[in-house]
Amino acid sequence: MKKINVITIDGPSASGKGALARQIASKFSINILDSGVLYRLFAYFDNLAIAHSEIAKKIQQEINFNLKIDRLQILNNEKDITSQLRSEDIAKTASKLSSKKEVRSLLFNIQRSFYTSKGLVADGRDMGTVVFKDAKLKIFLTASPEIRAKRRYIELQNLGQEVNMPALIADIESRDLKDSSRELSPLLPADDATIIDSSDMSLEEVFSFAENLIKKEFI
Ligand code: C5P
Repeated sequence: MKKINVITIDGPSASGKGALARQIASKFSINILDSGVLYRLFAYFDNLAIAHSEIAKKIQQEINFNLKIDRLQILNNEKDITSQLRSEDIAKTASKLSSKKEVRSLLFNIQRSFYTSKGLVADGRDMGTVVFKDAKLKIFLTASPEIRAKRRYIELQNLGQEVNMPALIADIESRDLKDSSRELSPLLPADDATIIDSSDMSLEEVFSFAENLIKKEFI
């Protein structure tokens, strides 16, 4: 298989994939794809009762992704909807919709269209196993459910959302179970992925580990 200039980062919810992907994109000046946001956008438009065939068009024509230092900003016709998309409600609907074949195939092409010769870092659940099987470098980033819940708690608090820790842990565990046990594109490390357990690592340590891999295997 001909390998393309893509770094995939897969892993369970709140394992730090997004933060790592943003750092890699900035440091190596490559494009970024947060595939979870595409599933969240699907859920957002589905909640507005928009037909699924229309949603794919809306995502391609009306949505802009803006890479900020600390987050990926999502604009819907110039309106910032990042914080709405980050809610646990949207995450639950996204998780439900993501088990549907029709939704996954609509999003497959959109995800592939993020790749340009400049290179891409793509994070999600099936980047290395399905969408970018042909990626040059694959990372599977994980951490214990408690640590992930703590990280998501801080992220949601920073976005001004009210959070209840026990409910958050329960949500994360139930979403992980659904994502790992679904028939289509279950959450799994690719055979050729490097697994990083970040439970006892700071973001800087994770980045430095990934940076070494990138220098060895990507550039
Ligand atoms: O990563 P994030 O929490 O934003 O993803 C929201 C949901 O979208 C996940 O729980 C998962 O069900 C779905 N998803 C997926 N495949 C991806 C990315 C996200 O099924 N590549």
